[in-house]
Amino acid sequence: MLRFAVTLFAVITSSTCQQYGCLEGDTQKPKPSPESNLQECTLYSKSSCCYADFTEQLAHSPVIKVSNSYWNRCGQLSKACEDFTKKIECFYRCSPHAARWIHPNDTAAIQAVPLCQSFCDDWYEACKDDSTCVQNWLTDWEWDESGVNHCKNKCIPYSEMYANGTDMCQNMWGESFKVSQSSCLCLQMNKKDTIAIKYLLSESSEESSSSSSSEEHACQNKLLKFEKPEEGEGEQTR
Ligand SMILES: *[C@@H]1O[C@H](CO)[C@@H](O)[C@H](O)[C@H]1NC(C)=O
Ligand SMILES: *[C@@H]1O[C@H](CO)[C@@H](O)[C@H](O)[C@H]1NC(C)=O
Repeated sequence: MLRFAVTLFAVITSSTCQQYGCLEGDTQKPKPSPESNLQECTLYSKSSCCYADFTEQLAHSPVIKVSNSYWNRCGQLSKACEDFTKKIECFYRCSPHAARWIHPNDTAAIQAVPLCQSFCDDWYEACKDDSTCVQNWLTDWEWDESGVNHCKNKCIPYSEMYANGTDMCQNMWGESFKVSQSSCLCLQMNKKDTIAIKYLLSESSEESSSSSSSEEHACQNKLLKFEKPEEGEGEQTR
């Protein structure tokens, strides 16, 4: 019986954890591991693809530069916009699940990570009055010989660069993100992602969403339970 349990555990861990390592970017670890001293990106403390050192660059607002990328080429980002930009940076650098969406032709890149519509809309709202000179932050910069980014085009408000949250999420980082049809099977870079990830991983590699209605249902139920305890506590203290 014990052996069965141990074997089962081994099968589960190898199929969910070890299937995906970390992306092969310039800062990622080979494999995720706990990081107790993260200064930012603490959503990923239990299992992180970034070292604590990396998060120092994100820890002080305003954030000027991350790796070789200046964030302030069109002036300092507002605090609200900076916070969203950090969430995306944290996901890419630190999430142990990012590699689930590894780009088939580029092991340092992600493709079609499902984001929640509400997350994209809130992000757009936070950044719409900030300025940017690139539509695609991966390809539209001019990189100098020391690998530092410069504007090629003039700075314009996000609200001119992108039509809305969907347009922003699906274009700002190339093919990295897509807006999900589901309001549950999608990431919003907070604790609720644990639930979404659980069902997104069990969707296996099927691209079609035909099988996903039961996943959708299960996810919505779980999310409801996740949100309910807080209400319950609130009522007890009345
Ligand atoms: C990967 O590269 C191949 C060959 O160049 C190309 O046909 C394919 O569209 C690329 N896939 C993606 C997702 O970019
Ligand atoms: C967002 O902008 C895109 C691109 O302009 C447009 O096709 C889409 O209909 C817009 N979506 C909403 C909800 O306004």
